[in-house]
Amino acid sequence: MKLLNLDHVGIAVRDLDEAIAGYADRYGVEPMHREVVDPQGVEEAMIPVGGSFIQLLQPLGPDTPVGRFVASRGEGLHHVAYAVTDIVTALSHLEEQGAELIDREPRIGGRGARIAFVHPKDLAGTLTELVEVAD
Ligand code: CO
Repeated sequence: MKLLNLDHVGIAVRDLDEAIAGYADRYGVEPMHREVVDPQGVEEAMIPVGGSFIQLLQPLGPDTPVGRFVASRGEGLHHVAYAVTDIVTALSHLEEQGAELIDREPRIGGRGARIAFVHPKDLAGTLTELVEVAD
């Protein structure tokens, strides 16, 4: 298994509208997609930058993973996400490697994509997301 490219960086924010306006004013970029992803407890906006995205994440409530993150650490970089062609193969490779997985099975993320998270304790203190993309 090999990572294809950087799909997105996930950034936790308190106020999605404010963050979108800030990225537009400061950096001249606009979201192409915005969606409530209930299973993850977030509303997200995807801002294209080259072949990758900035993913702004506003928690739907304090008792969600991103809500707890913002409460304890404030706004900021939450995870990095890499594209893979086959997420099931990628997860079984990681299991063989003894990686500390949050998701042993893929789940459905924004845009209907199959995703899975690897625990930040596993490698380099970074919450890592794999996103299955079409070839
Ligand atoms: Co993400």
